[in-house]
Amino acid sequence: MKKRVYITRSILSDGVQLMRDQGLEVVINDQDLPLPYSELLTRVQGFDALITMLSDKIDESFLKACPQLKVISNYAVGYNNIDTNAATLLGIPVGNTPDVLTEATAEVALGLMIAASRNFLSANKSASDGAWKNWDPTGHLGHALKGKTLGVIGLGRIGQRLAQMCAHAFSMKIQYYSQSIKENTFGAIRLDLNSLLKESDFVSIHLPLNNQTKKLIGLKEISMMKRSAVLINTARGEIIDQDDLVTALKNNLIFAAGLDVTDPEPLPIEHELFACQNAFILPHIGSATYEARRDMSILVAKNIIAGLKGERLIAQVNML
Ligand code: DGY
Repeated sequence: MKKRVYITRSILSDGVQLMRDQGLEVVINDQDLPLPYSELLTRVQGFDALITMLSDKIDESFLKACPQLKVISNYAVGYNNIDTNAATLLGIPVGNTPDVLTEATAEVALGLMIAASRNFLSANKSASDGAWKNWDPTGHLGHALKGKTLGVIGLGRIGQRLAQMCAHAFSMKIQYYSQSIKENTFGAIRLDLNSLLKESDFVSIHLPLNNQTKKLIGLKEISMMKRSAVLINTARGEIIDQDDLVTALKNNLIFAAGLDVTDPEPLPIEHELFACQNAFILPHIGSATYEARRDMSILVAKNIIAGLKGERLIAQVNML
């Protein structure tokens, strides 16, 4: 009998084809909307493998209610939506998609640095809503990137690529906060978190979300930053205390924030962050390039194929 794979959203077809070529039966959620928890649980019954999105919550109860499940692969590098400890105890390997989205996500972080520091939001509004009456010699002033200091919180793959882009393209000085010393990272200086916050012009977050990193950046931390500084988050919204960020932005404690991630997602349109002219917000598009999403689809497929053969996944996050 054919092994069965369920994909919770429509993804680029390359990986789907790869799995079908291997003789797997692949079923894709045809609604192309995130399924509610209980609906997903019902649909996954009888499937051997599951490809999840970062919006699918896969907790211990879910896993226990799917005894036939042999492998899961998240269509993301972050996997905080999956209880990997429970998966390990149940013998289920969990995969993710590292490397293939590094470039795309670092590009979004860099884009946010420029958009937030150069007032793209208010400038674009002024251009489109009729406020643009003449060229303004003192209007829309922002902060340059060249020669400034970038503080990277979490110098993993994406943080390193952003650091490399900023060092090469903008001659920026790089400092980082990380549990471990990173070698060969463009002369980057390792600092404790408080020093990094105080001494950086741009601070970019690249940490996984877990109990240690949840609300790591609150009002106390933001208050340590320069008033001219820009805070960037392309990791997970919950790493910043968002109410504190709103307070900081309203009181101009920092110059601006550029966010590809929020808490919750989607962020309700009436949320106070949208009223902050110094907050540039994107709807979690870090990995949204054709190239990255194609390679993510191939990598999740390879993870599933390996898992169904009883082999270690190409990118496996739990130890089994
Ligand atoms: C991921 O894949 O975890 C990132 O959020 C991409 O933006």
